[in-house]
Amino acid sequence: MQITLKQPDDWHLHLRDDAMMQAVVASSARHFARALVMPNLVPPVTTGQAARDYRGRIEEAVQAALPGSGFQPLMTLYLTDTTDADDVVRAAADGTILAVKLYPAGATTNSASGVTDLDKVMPVLEAMAQNDIVLCVHGEVTHADVDIFDREARFIETVLEPLRRRLPELRVVMEHVTTRDGVDYVAANDTHLAATLTTHHLMINRNHLLVGGIRPHYYCLPIAKREEHRQALVKAATSGDSRYFLGTDSAPHTRSSKESDCGCAGVFNAANTMVCLAEVFEEAGALEQLEAFASLNGPRWYGLPPNSATMTLRKTDSARPVPEPVAVGDEWVMPFDPARPVYWEVV
Ligand code: DOR
Ligand code: ZN
Repeated sequence: MQITLKQPDDWHLHLRDDAMMQAVVASSARHFARALVMPNLVPPVTTGQAARDYRGRIEEAVQAALPGSGFQPLMTLYLTDTTDADDVVRAAADGTILAVKLYPAGATTNSASGVTDLDKVMPVLEAMAQNDIVLCVHGEVTHADVDIFDREARFIETVLEPLRRRLPELRVVMEHVTTRDGVDYVAANDTHLAATLTTHHLMINRNHLLVGGIRPHYYCLPIAKREEHRQALVKAATSGDSRYFLGTDSAPHTRSSKESDCGCAGVFNAANTMVCLAEVFEEAGALEQLEAFASLNGPRWYGLPPNSATMTLRKTDSARPVPEPVAVGDEWVMPFDPARPVYWEVV
């Protein structure tokens, strides 16, 4: 069995910088035509000029790793309490950026500069709504008294819904939704709201993370939830509804920083995302929807044409191995182990 789809794009990717970027960029560029690159470097990418500089470094790293590759990084800006609305509007108008990313301060890796109070960024959000610039949100509240498994649902209720009432014209992507609450909220709303779904949240639940020993390589944010939530995510991804599309959230960390007494959040799934998705969509009896999810819905949301190149995936007779660890200096980055056999390969 095999299927051919338009070449996919990744609408949520962490490429990092320097040696880490040089080590991981080929894993994305081999399969994806474009990727929306997250700005949570240290320091974060907060200005149009910083985004242009970062894009230049990515393009160099791509050509060094995969000479001749047509992989195109699409950039985001990191919203802070002091972001300049004019700079955002200019960077969107001249094609430097495609979206702005909202991290609530303290929500995840390198989010210390994130937004502390939405009121502080209302002028920027108003300018974005007026100029049709997409806001990508890390949808979790960060209050210490909110349980980590409830943070996404609480964000929808206390932050996202009020924001969307206040600025109905703003187009918002709920990044990496992990709950039934998240996909239901998108389903119940209009065309100004969409969601990305990650590879790993379609495959693992919190038992994979915590039963029989703690598995730090499954630790990411938002954290994996109960199985019923994973099933709701699979249903949304395979539904064909154009408001759901692929954002891998591939987020490399070194093995030692994951296997630590305070391990980093992030799953590195860039290399095996497409074969994993073929497995998930086949199991759901929805292989014919994979192209919409991975290759069509994202460009449509961002007003871009789908890719003209294609990708063929083939089902083999024996399970394929998890990709090899990637070397970074004298360290390793461990690829996502989907915790089940994967029979698909990219031809
Ligand atoms: O697990 C995660 N890792 N979630 C995020 O939101 C950020 C990411 C990272 O940058 O490592
Ligand atoms: Zn992310």
